[in-house]
Amino acid sequence: MVSNQKSEIRNQKFIGYLIGGNLKENLTVRLTVPAHEVQEGAFVVIESGDWLFHGLVTDLQLGDTDPRFADEQLGARLPAELAKLLHGQTLFTNLQVLPALMIERGPEPGSPAYKDWLKAIEASLRETPRAVPVKTIPPHQAQVRLAAEGDIAEIFGKPDEKGNFVIGSTREQGHPVAINLQKFVQRSSGIFGATGTGKSFLTRMLLAGLIQHNAASVLVLDMHNEYAYDDFDENKNPVIGLQAKFRSKLRVVGLGKGALIRGQAPDFNLEIAMSDIHPEDIELLTRELNLKETTPATLDALVAAFDRNSWFKEFKNMSISTVLTDEGKRVPAPGSVAAWADQHGVNVMAAEGLHNKLGRVFRLPYVVEQPAADTIGEIVKALEAGQHVVLSFGDHESDLDYLLVSNLLTRRIRQRWEQRTNDYRSSGKGEPRPLVIAVEEAHKLLNREMAVQTTFSTIARELRKYYVTLLIIDQRPSQIYDEVMSQLGTRVSGWLGDDDDIRAVLSGLASRDALRGMIAHLQQKEEVLLLGWGVPMPLPVRSRRYDERFWDELIGKGGWKRGEKEIKEELGF
Ligand SMILES: Nc1ncnc2c1ncn2[C@@H]1O[C@H](COP(=O)(O)OP(=O)(O)OP(=O)(O)O)[C@@H](O)[C@H]1O
Ligand SMILES: [Mg+2]
Repeated sequence: MVSNQKSEIRNQKFIGYLIGGNLKENLTVRLTVPAHEVQEGAFVVIESGDWLFHGLVTDLQLGDTDPRFADEQLGARLPAELAKLLHGQTLFTNLQVLPALMIERGPEPGSPAYKDWLKAIEASLRETPRAVPVKTIPPHQAQVRLAAEGDIAEIFGKPDEKGNFVIGSTREQGHPVAINLQKFVQRSSGIFGATGTGKSFLTRMLLAGLIQHNAASVLVLDMHNEYAYDDFDENKNPVIGLQAKFRSKLRVVGLGKGALIRGQAPDFNLEIAMSDIHPEDIELLTRELNLKETTPATLDALVAAFDRNSWFKEFKNMSISTVLTDEGKRVPAPGSVAAWADQHGVNVMAAEGLHNKLGRVFRLPYVVEQPAADTIGEIVKALEAGQHVVLSFGDHESDLDYLLVSNLLTRRIRQRWEQRTNDYRSSGKGEPRPLVIAVEEAHKLLNREMAVQTTFSTIARELRKYYVTLLIIDQRPSQIYDEVMSQLGTRVSGWLGDDDDIRAVLSGLASRDALRGMIAHLQQKEEVLLLGWGVPMPLPVRSRRYDERFWDELIGKGGWKRGEKEIKEELGF
């Protein structure tokens, strides 16, 4: 720890002292300041000799030395001063603190022992102090204080350091809290919260951070056309799109020929070649199209009769018609589904049923025989070259569009990144660039049923080895396949009201009970709990605001700067 930070930290006001508790659950702290100065979720530091313990307040409890003092309204019977004095002696508040991390801070700065300690670290005779999970507890009466800005920077990373992105600030004192983007892209992550809690706004800022810090290529599957171009928020205030700020680095792709996104012509239009649609793309639409169990067999027969690339076109071109024979019998017309089925020993009803249900896919205007350009190839190339892509679905906002196109595109990306990673492993050259795929309404692609079939669950579960991770954004985390949820590294959760959703966000994490209440007690907007492997310890934060100042801090003046308001507050104005 840097020494000027240390002296700043050592001057902090204490809020209480340790009176009991245990390592597995909570430590109990007697509060010596008014209870309203501390909230659930506050980040506190317990000082114990050369060590600092960091923890989270999980509960506040009223206590008394004798219940009579709590019960009786002494104010009515005793002079006010006396009642206050008596209350001060007999009634108190305790904090429950969940210990999370401990870090060695060394002896008192300026002391000879401190100099020796520093020298030993410089000479590598001692390890550089770093936060480790708590393995012991501080003693009785250890002093407790709210975390200072330096403590938070020490644990979460310094806001100005490259690769650190300020996602919000602590609720009590507004100290900035950063996340490490390099770490963030190493595993899939999630942003959750009920509708209107600020997920899309937070995602926009995080994506801007990833692009600006060049931490990864970003592909956004933008089902509701929110991210690329300027828009208006729910109060009709303008919201700047990513394209306006990253013109040379970001490509906007609109689905379908001539598609306009928020009235603007995108950089490319995406059309899908019929030859790109393979049986597995259809199988994952089973629920959406209400397909029968006979579908895989019919698809197999189609691929066997034609091939993987032409079955779709051939099947689409088949008719459902009959002709009258000379004998007056109705038989399948040449070129009909039934004629093909008869000829290949396929159940006619099954084939005709599938043909009928695929009508919705046959009619999609952006699925064409010969696309004007290989846009999927161009998207993959742009991402490989370090650019970023927002795929806007334009008017094609149905689940069918979202499932089909997202999966097709992601499959191609996955193939390419796997191939590049394997080449890199064998040659040691050309390390693939990390890629983050942001998926809104992720449960549509990652629910229990779909997860077995879509590329997305494979990415969430194993593709981090191939440099591809997901950023999933969802209101209903409980509908996402639990195996995917438990793999998520960084989780950012806004307010959730449903117990199942809260449980899903916390799946696979320790201290779930303590954190459950914290999610339910978040403000319903612009407050989130940071959780999971990607952050050093759980912490509720007030989300950063998305506005002009955000952009100034991110790309305008460079680096995170403290605003006038915070500086004034710190100076006591
Ligand atoms: N960080 C922020 N900065 C500025 N405004 C915000 C922020 N977060 C939320 N808001 C406000 O709250 C509104 C809702 O936020 P947002 O659209 O991100 O919600 P959401 O969680 O994505 O909701 P849904 O699930 O319905 O898509 C925004 O229109 C904006 O006015
Ligand atoms: Mg949203």
